[in-house]
Amino acid sequence: MTAQIINGKQVSEQCIARVAEQVAQRKAAGLRVPGLAVVLVGDDSASAVYVRNKQLACDKAALKSFSHILPATTTEAELLTLIDELNTNLEVDGILVQLPLPKHINSQNILERINPQKDVDGFHPYNMGRLAQKMPLLRPCTPKGVMTLLSEYKIDIKGKKVCIVGASNIVGRPQALEMLLAGGTVTVCHSATQNLAQEVAAADIVVAAVGKPNFVQGEWIKAGAVVIDVGINRLDNGKLCGDVAFDAAAERASAITPVPGGVGPMTIASLLENTLQAAQLRD
Ligand code: GUN
Repeated sequence: MTAQIINGKQVSEQCIARVAEQVAQRKAAGLRVPGLAVVLVGDDSASAVYVRNKQLACDKAALKSFSHILPATTTEAELLTLIDELNTNLEVDGILVQLPLPKHINSQNILERINPQKDVDGFHPYNMGRLAQKMPLLRPCTPKGVMTLLSEYKIDIKGKKVCIVGASNIVGRPQALEMLLAGGTVTVCHSATQNLAQEVAAADIVVAAVGKPNFVQGEWIKAGAVVIDVGINRLDNGKLCGDVAFDAAAERASAITPVPGGVGPMTIASLLENTLQAAQLRD
């Protein structure tokens, strides 16, 4: 079998166009243009690229964006004060604090300070709890983007065995909750999992989110399974690669996401959707 390549770039462009259309309708109806505040602390180069891409995407959807680029020496108290300001700023519908934060700042304190109705990352315990209790409000962007991709490609989840490799707060855990909500039978694998190959081999849908290049072997994939690769790893030669050994997996899978051009663009599309949703919550 040769897998169908799932085109996340194309689906994300459709999503962004839909957001742009709704923003235009809001304007025409005299409603506020949704605004996204992005906060970056320190000089992590990968984070700087992500933040720039988020601003460009906001431009595409005609959303307002506000950047707060702060030095690595910013204190937790200063950052909390900025969050308080953004929480009360009427022009700001969504707040995103780029992770990771410098080590001297407690990320959880920051994430919990964000007004849950402006939490477009969906990382606040309120939003994670809503997702866990089958009543999602603002949903974490990457797992939401994965669900949109599967839906656009008409890939059924109900009754399917789903194996998620990785249990992070940003992807693995919320992805498990999304898949459960969609009716999947979900297994979450992590660093203490025994017999990972066997867990992956049993799955109809595999989501890899471990952040290790080519970690999931192609030979582990069940024939006809769907493979979603969330990893974005930069190799020594400068090339990007995912968490799945793509070529070998593509020989067995029925459908697979490439890196780049798979899940990555969907994360940003979900962020814009969430910003629009956050504006609607405040209308
Ligand atoms: N760092 C890596 N992924 C993400 C994300 O989805 N949101 C934020 N805020 N930071 C990240």
